[in-house]
Amino acid sequence: MQVHSCLRKSQNCRRRVYALQSGGSVFHEKTDVGRLESMGCQCQQAEGVSGLTTGDQNESRFKEKTRRLTSNPINGTSSAPSIEGYEVGQQLKHEKEDLVINGKAAAAGTTKDELDKGRVNVIEDEAWNLLRDSIVYYCNNQVGTIAANDPSSSNILNYDQVFIRDFIPSGIAFLLKGEYDIVRNFILHTLQLQSWEKTMDCHSPGQGLMPASFKVRTVPLDGDDSATEDVLDPDFGEAAIGRVAPVDSGLWWIILLRAYGKCSGDLSLQERIDVQTGIKMILKLCLADGFDMFPTLLVTDGSCMIDRRMGIHGHPLEIQALFYSALLSAREMLAPEDASADIIRALTNRLIALSFHIREYYWIDMKKVNEIYRYKTEEYSYDAVNKFNIYPDQIPSWLVEFMPSKGGYLIGNLQPAHMDFRFFSLGNLWSIVSSLATVDQSHAILDLIEAKWDELVADMPFKICYPALEGQEWQIITGSDPKNTPWSYHNGGSWPTLLWQLTVACIKMNRPEVALKAVEVAERRISQDKWPEYYDTKRARFIGKQAQLYQTWSIAGYLVAKLLLANPSAAKSLVNKEDSELVNAFSLISANPRRKRVRRRQSFII
Ligand code: GLC
Repeated sequence: MQVHSCLRKSQNCRRRVYALQSGGSVFHEKTDVGRLESMGCQCQQAEGVSGLTTGDQNESRFKEKTRRLTSNPINGTSSAPSIEGYEVGQQLKHEKEDLVINGKAAAAGTTKDELDKGRVNVIEDEAWNLLRDSIVYYCNNQVGTIAANDPSSSNILNYDQVFIRDFIPSGIAFLLKGEYDIVRNFILHTLQLQSWEKTMDCHSPGQGLMPASFKVRTVPLDGDDSATEDVLDPDFGEAAIGRVAPVDSGLWWIILLRAYGKCSGDLSLQERIDVQTGIKMILKLCLADGFDMFPTLLVTDGSCMIDRRMGIHGHPLEIQALFYSALLSAREMLAPEDASADIIRALTNRLIALSFHIREYYWIDMKKVNEIYRYKTEEYSYDAVNKFNIYPDQIPSWLVEFMPSKGGYLIGNLQPAHMDFRFFSLGNLWSIVSSLATVDQSHAILDLIEAKWDELVADMPFKICYPALEGQEWQIITGSDPKNTPWSYHNGGSWPTLLWQLTVACIKMNRPEVALKAVEVAERRISQDKWPEYYDTKRARFIGKQAQLYQTWSIAGYLVAKLLLANPSAAKSLVNKEDSELVNAFSLISANPRRKRVRRRQSFII
């Protein structure tokens, strides 16, 4: 069992915080860490936990909250340099000229050359400073980044926490920079929090769940008024607005773990027994049998980046794309031992069924919409064309305008008698990245993005979904949510963080120029606007009404996009290649989708 015994006199603690605030120093700098180390903390690192059985691990995870030390810089003020609009304008102008001169193929290389030459990119420098200022420390170790770091905000809600999903672009930015420790620490500490005794009104969600977020808290030590202890306090959704389940956290955790191994070359982390157990616990939770008829993962509303009611309960595309990517990544990382054979078999079967289901039934383009338009309904048979009994009247009028003649996309959700035709960006982009979409589909999604640039990018990349829910639909589906009014926040708002997923998808399809164009749009104003969380209006012209400023994943998303465009081959650590075993199985099912079901029916009769 790992015990952290990092105590300090509360007086010292206060002095420390005061010194930090008054000095405005940057807490993460080595010198500061050095000073902290000299405070006599005997905290062991999460590295110490290894070779435990599952039972031991749960116990150790439970006890993880006992004693902690934090050096808590999370509410430190930003030390970002102030940027003159003129300077930025000039910088961008130069960069743009260079890129235009060098053309598409050389674009990424040019950016890298610029970096290599040491030319200062003011926006990037500012972004790095802000990202570093958002780092959260625990036991002298960097363990994550807070969601937003706006010193002037009076309404921080839970934005002072480390969100698992928000940390992904931060973690990737650090990995791409060769700074691996923060990601390693994040992975190990969140693993310690996994499936801990979280409850809501006496109910505990399934084992293996990863928290949505965590906070490092300093609390008085039991029985000693003069000392404090620090605890890692996770939120599994039991405190979150709307009590939403963070289904995506564990999936992102697996994706980041794989990226860590690929970038750092250090496979010892994923090989650790506790990490292997963590992967299996997430998989078990996702692969557990339920009442579901589909291979897609059934979830409640708000269980991913869109974490409030937006009518995405059921089988939302974002979760399916992350699920697919996490299954592929886990299959790569799980040690090939007897104990893992069942789970590897189960996940391979699921991968095949999932890709078939999404590629076949979620895909729409002009041709498919026209088929749906002429669907017959109420077909009772194994060979029904309209399997989900979709009534053609469901085709929304906006879709007729939105669907380009060249291009297509994966719809947001599919349920009996219901297709959610909205375009959800993250789900589509991650379907490209994870190879859940076929190569043709992936290109078609990028074709659509190019064709619908004014709708999806306009003045700031990237619209979270298109179109917005309005009127009565907004009232019923969002519950009249004033934060999700049309073209705001999750309801058609524009989120700069999505730049990084767009960039990975474009690089994978060898179309970096699309991402480059989006980055240039963002660079026109994101820094002057103070790195907002999201933008409002159809064309993303306003900073979001309730948007946090200095939102970390807006900053990190931009940095990841820049780093990848400068070095596109680094995107490999995030991309899942289509696997030949899956392709073969897929073509078999395509030839005869009923094969498996018929066999099952026979065994039932016997
Ligand atoms: C909002 C977003 C969510 C994000 C959180 C912290 O709740 O919807 O995706 O993780 O803010 O930034």
